[in-house]
Amino acid sequence: MSTWNGKIHLAQFLVHGPTFHSIAMWRHPRTAAAAYDWTRPQLWQHIARTCERGLFDMAFFADLNYISDTYKGSLEPALANATQAPEHDPIPLLSYMAAATSHIGVASTFSTSQHHPFYAARMWATLDHLTAGRAGWNVVTSINHNQDANFGVKRPSADQRYDRAHEFMEVCRKLWASWDEDAVLMDRAAPRFADAAKVHRIDHEGRFFKSRGPLNVIRSPHGGPAILQAGVSPKGQDFAAKYADAVFAIQPRPEDAKAYRDSVHAHLDSIGRDRRACKILFGMQPIIGATEAEARDRQAEHNALIPVEGGMAILSAHLDLDLSRFPAGTRLAERNEPQLQRLRTRYLASDGTPMAMEEIAQRHGQRVGLPQFVGTPQSIADQMEAFMAHVGGDGFMITPIDCPGAIEEFVDLVVPELQRRGLMRTAYAGTTLKAHLAQFDEAR
Ligand SMILES: Cc1cc2nc3c(=O)[nH]c(=O)nc-3n(C[C@H](O)[C@H](O)[C@H](O)COP(=O)(O)O)c2cc1C
Repeated sequence: MSTWNGKIHLAQFLVHGPTFHSIAMWRHPRTAAAAYDWTRPQLWQHIARTCERGLFDMAFFADLNYISDTYKGSLEPALANATQAPEHDPIPLLSYMAAATSHIGVASTFSTSQHHPFYAARMWATLDHLTAGRAGWNVVTSINHNQDANFGVKRPSADQRYDRAHEFMEVCRKLWASWDEDAVLMDRAAPRFADAAKVHRIDHEGRFFKSRGPLNVIRSPHGGPAILQAGVSPKGQDFAAKYADAVFAIQPRPEDAKAYRDSVHAHLDSIGRDRRACKILFGMQPIIGATEAEARDRQAEHNALIPVEGGMAILSAHLDLDLSRFPAGTRLAERNEPQLQRLRTRYLASDGTPMAMEEIAQRHGQRVGLPQFVGTPQSIADQMEAFMAHVGGDGFMITPIDCPGAIEEFVDLVVPELQRRGLMRTAYAGTTLKAHLAQFDEAR
């Protein structure tokens, strides 16, 4: 039975670089015509303002801190195709984008596998202040050996990475809570800036980290940023159930999306956390046309721009497995390598048949396996509504085929259609990212 409350949350997927999910984005004729320059910070302010005009919950940056040599042991395929490389650090952009807007959340990915939690807690609390409670942290554990190589560390197992991530979050939460809400007195006459009895050491000594505390940042508006997450494995879902305010999921088919959502809810139920506390946002790539035929032409134009080699490079990077080792035509759904298990739902065509590796790679290069919704603005709204009705909620992470045109077009053409149907907010009810994510909770 569907539990959908009839409302859709929207987030905008971004990468601080030439390509997002589509590795053709930088080569797309409309991106070229728009003179897309991702090194220009004003572009990101424009995108933030556009998404705020569309009343999105947040603008969200993925982040990887490597250029992958996984495919063929060479940097060449990744650099030739700009397969999510280069990627400039998105975190400095968050306060820049927040300065140009007043409501929209600004979120970024930051891994728990490379840094100390004191550094992360301080940075995210500071960002929460700078954005007045609009900061969101997508907590990841890193997916590729190149990340560990860049930091000169040995790659831990997936289980160890999640164990470390749990402790990382625990330390951050203790540090964010180390200043009581009323600790700052600002008594200039005394002088007594803060009440030392209300600022606490945390004295954390765990398996991975030691931290004495307190944090040297006062309690932030959110009491720490909103927490986002994107894990697929049971351990990843445990993590989401415990900490996340929202999860970003990529599931190509509605039936897989529903199974994933049911599974995250089962994890929430098992620890007694309200299902509404963790929103699930499904990745979706809209391709809009004035007519159905124009939209299909645009889809064909975009999808043909992906070289198989580029698709193989990005898929190899995301799997952390060199696909050049397999014979041409290999069906990944029929292989048992442990690295192939995480992304299994992406190896099937829409009718459920296993696809050949090259076809999966091309689809991965177009959209990292997430569904394309193609049509007029009305038809895209129909498809979004049908997906949500089938899956049960809560919303979408939108990813463009060109930039910034596809983002502007979605906001100008599809958002009004969703609002007309009562599926989207027509105004922000709060000012923080957590408030946006909770806006429709009472409607259930
Ligand atoms: C939709 C999605 C988006 C992700 N985005 C990033 C990212 O931007 N940076 C990153 O380092 N890892 C990213 N990851 C990796 C995950 O956060 C996680 O570390 C990885 O999937 C391994 O955990 P799992 O086995 O539970 O999926 C992403 C994963 C998914 C499913």
